[in-house]
This record gives sequence, C-alpha cells and structure tokens, in this order.
Amino acid sequence: MKYVLILGAGSDIARPLAFLYAKHGYNIYLASRSYDQLVRDAHDISLRFKVDAQAFKFDAADVASHQSFYDSLPYKPIGVITLAGALGDQKQSEQKFTDAKNVIDVNYTGLVSIIHIIAADFEQRREGFIVGVSSVAGERGRKSNYVYASAKAGFTTFLSGLRNRLHSAGVQVMTVHPGFVRTKMIEGRTTPGIITASAEDVARDIFKAQQLGKDFVYSKWFWRFIMMAFTMIPESIAKKLDLK
Ligand SMILES: NC(=O)c1ccc[n+]([C@@H]2O[C@H](COP(=O)([O-])OP(=O)(O)OC[C@H]3O[C@@H](n4cnc5c(N)ncnc54)[C@H](OP(=O)(O)O)[C@@H]3O)[C@@H](O)[C@H]2O)c1
Repeated sequence: MKYVLILGAGSDIARPLAFLYAKHGYNIYLASRSYDQLVRDAHDISLRFKVDAQAFKFDAADVASHQSFYDSLPYKPIGVITLAGALGDQKQSEQKFTDAKNVIDVNYTGLVSIIHIIAADFEQRREGFIVGVSSVAGERGRKSNYVYASAKAGFTTFLSGLRNRLHSAGVQVMTVHPGFVRTKMIEGRTTPGIITASAEDVARDIFKAQQLGKDFVYSKWFWRFIMMAFTMIPESIAKKLDLK
C-alpha cells in the first residue's frame, strides 16, 4: 500500500505529478483547501490509473490542525510532496503585516509544522521521502518579492538541515528549485518563454529526480547555472539594479 501525499494539491503542478506517481502504481492523497476540486481530481485519477486516490482538506497556515490531519490519513504515506505556496503581493506585505505573515506561513512556518510531524513518523519507520518545492527566488532577495523569497530561503535551509538529520534513517529529503513555471501563480505576468517551464515539465523533473534518490533538482535544469551567475553579482552592484 504505497501512498504519496501531495500537500497544496490545488497547484497546477499537482495533477501531472499525481498522474506520474499513479501511473507507476502509487496511491494518491491530494490535500489542500480547494476540497471539492480535489475530490473530482481524485475520482479522475482512480478511474484513469486504477489506484486509490483520496482528497483531504488541508490548510498549511492552520498549524493547530496538522497533527489531527496526519492522524486522519487511513494509511500512512511512503512519501510527501509539498506544493503549497503563496506569492502574495509584495506591496501589500510591506504595508500590512498580516499579509506578509500569510506568505511566510504558507511557504515556510506551516510547512515546518506539517513536515516535522511527518518526519518523525518516517524517521521512526526508517523509510520514506520528503520533497519540498522551494524556489530559485530564495537564492537572492529582490525588491519585487523579498517577503516570498525570504520564506523560500528559510524553507530551502530547513530542508537541507532535515536532509542531514534524516540521512542516517534512510529517509530521502529532496529540494526542488523551480524557476518560472506557467501556472496560475504567475498568471498575467510576462516571462521569457524559453526559460519558462510548463507544469508538466516540473512534474517530470520532480518525479525523475525523486525516483533517482536525488537531494535537489532545478527545474528547468539550467536555472542552477542562471542562479550561480546571479548570486555572484556583488551586493554593491545588485542594490542599484532595477531587479523585477
Ligand atoms: N509558478 C512559478 O513560477 C513558481 C516558481 C518557483 C516556485 N514555485 C513554487 O511551486 C509551488 C507550486 O506553485 P504553482 O506555481 O503550481 O502555483 P499554484 O498553482 O498557485 O499552486 C499553489 C497552491 O498552493 C496552495 N495553497 C495556497 N495556500 C495554501 C494553504 N494555506 N494551505 C494549503 N495549500 C495552500 C493552493 O491550493 P489551494 O487553493 O487548493 O489551497 C495553490 O493551488 C509553490 O510552492 C510555488 O511557490 C512556483
């Protein structure tokens, strides 16, 4: 009974990713706030791939509910993938702390809460994989999105520490660093086509790297080199650039 739990399954990446796992015989738990849509998606996955797929209500920001959410899963998963994320509005975050807090909670604090609950279970069972979808945005602050980016930076560091902790228990912890991805998160924004991935591209990259037991993956692959160059620009120059 192999179940993969997708947290933030309202993401456009969740459907192609769930398809890949289901195609390879995994049962699927879809969890996020848009429960009715997830019920329809789960039904579709069950019919297409003849696996068990179930929907659950999950709010990353509601940390008080996390233990009972995990306890309510009929079978404990062999793997978890976090797609939950909120870009928020940088200007709103600067003016209203509750907006900044929501961005921090969905991208970081809430994930620390639920992942620690799951990590304790996997560590005790000495099996499992934890995949956290972070962002290349977390590798350098820019004025256009530094609240979101700083939460992602925290999440990336959290995952590397967790990887170090769980290595001896045989639990894989993988960090995903997407660049631009054509999803509803960046709907209406113009991004350079050639470096913008589709949700299907990212799903494929995640599945392949996880199955190979990798520690991290950039999607698309060349973002690793883009970020290497970008983070080498000295702060004295970067602060003067109009980085969007
Ligand atoms: N698109 C990009 O260019 C890009 C780039 C780098 C990294 N990423 C990261 O990739 C991941 C997937 O994002 P995406 O691009 O697929 O955007 P998306 O379609 O907007 O998906 C993000 C999902 O997060 C879920 N979410 C938001 N608040 C939540 C909460 N409080 N509790 C639980 N789930 C919550 C939402 O589902 P519900 O509404 O159903 O809760 C939403 O569908 C995110 O972590 C994002 O930061 C995206």
